[in-house]
Amino acid sequence: MDKILVTGGLGFIGSHTVVELQNSGYEVIIIDDLSNSSFDVLHRISTITGITPKFEQIDLKNKAKVIDFFKRNKDLKGVIHFAASKAVGESTEQPLMYYENNINTLVYVLQELKNSNHTNFIFSSSCTVYGQADELPITEKAPVKIAESPYGNTKQIGEEIIQDVCRVNSNMNAIALRYFNPIGAHESASIGELPIGIPQNLVPFITQTAYGLRDKLSVFGDDYPTHDGTCIRDYIHVVDLAKAHVVALERLLNRKNKSNFETFNLGTGKGSSVLEVIKSFERVTGLTLNYTIAKRRSGDITAAYADTNKANMELGWQSHLSLDDAMASAWKWEMHIRKK
Ligand code: UD1
Repeated sequence: MDKILVTGGLGFIGSHTVVELQNSGYEVIIIDDLSNSSFDVLHRISTITGITPKFEQIDLKNKAKVIDFFKRNKDLKGVIHFAASKAVGESTEQPLMYYENNINTLVYVLQELKNSNHTNFIFSSSCTVYGQADELPITEKAPVKIAESPYGNTKQIGEEIIQDVCRVNSNMNAIALRYFNPIGAHESASIGELPIGIPQNLVPFITQTAYGLRDKLSVFGDDYPTHDGTCIRDYIHVVDLAKAHVVALERLLNRKNKSNFETFNLGTGKGSSVLEVIKSFERVTGLTLNYTIAKRRSGDITAAYADTNKANMELGWQSHLSLDDAMASAWKWEMHIRKK
């Protein structure tokens, strides 16, 4: 069994990816600092797969611990690096914390990969690198725009750092996966998104409002140049997204990659407006959501959805689950966590 390190493996996308890796026969070792995740997730993963992954609570900012970890784990076949802070608003208030959390840690991990020949590396990137793209759908060739936030900047800089390392180290093989908007939860409702405090993202805000934890959802702007005036995004089910990580890893393990640094968009290819997401939620749950139209949120772009051709053709991956599937699973998850 190939042993794969998943940093941030107890987080939202990380935990779903660990499940898919285990289901595909990989041995997983998780590093997580529990700063935005719960130890409980380890057991939740094992209720789904029947296997408890190995786990080490390590803060990757602690360079000595990173060095020590890689010294003890010379048999790793690949690394999937999720560990990072991801709140856009917080990043504008505490930029240095974001650069330290997301950049220093990446550098420390890459230094050890370089030293120990663990050369297969998957990086969690984001469609945020495209900003408001000039053309839709967005291909991987679309130019990277000036970042709107320190968080977004860490994804751009992260990709550049990896690319620079790949340029001088031909043994290093890396793929940056640019996620569009990951939503939903595992069908078992054992794992899902656990936002701390008031959710900033649309779907957890919808489910919390429907559950009665929030008064109403504010739809940020209905005067955008879109068919119903609300912003358009490409919402991708987290389980589809998790599966893409396994496919990307196998591309590297089987040396099917065409260059030693590649980028892929991970989305459905379909844009949905905020009002369409609300309608989907109401359709699958039979509930009526309390919402109001509010003013635009600063920093929001009008529309973003992926051109998925490269991921379809090169990775041989495509999303299968619909927006309705994702909304139904998000609701099931919300009810599951509140009943505890
Ligand atoms: C946000 C981040 C992005 C990050 C992604 C991770 C910002 C500006 N961008 O993307 O960098 O990669 O999350 O998932 O934060 N909306 C409402 N009411 C709400 C919340 C959201 O109307 O209470 C709308 C937003 O205006 C947007 C859409 O819902 O049009 C999606 O918002 P959100 O879930 O926050 O994702 P993004 O902003 O696309």
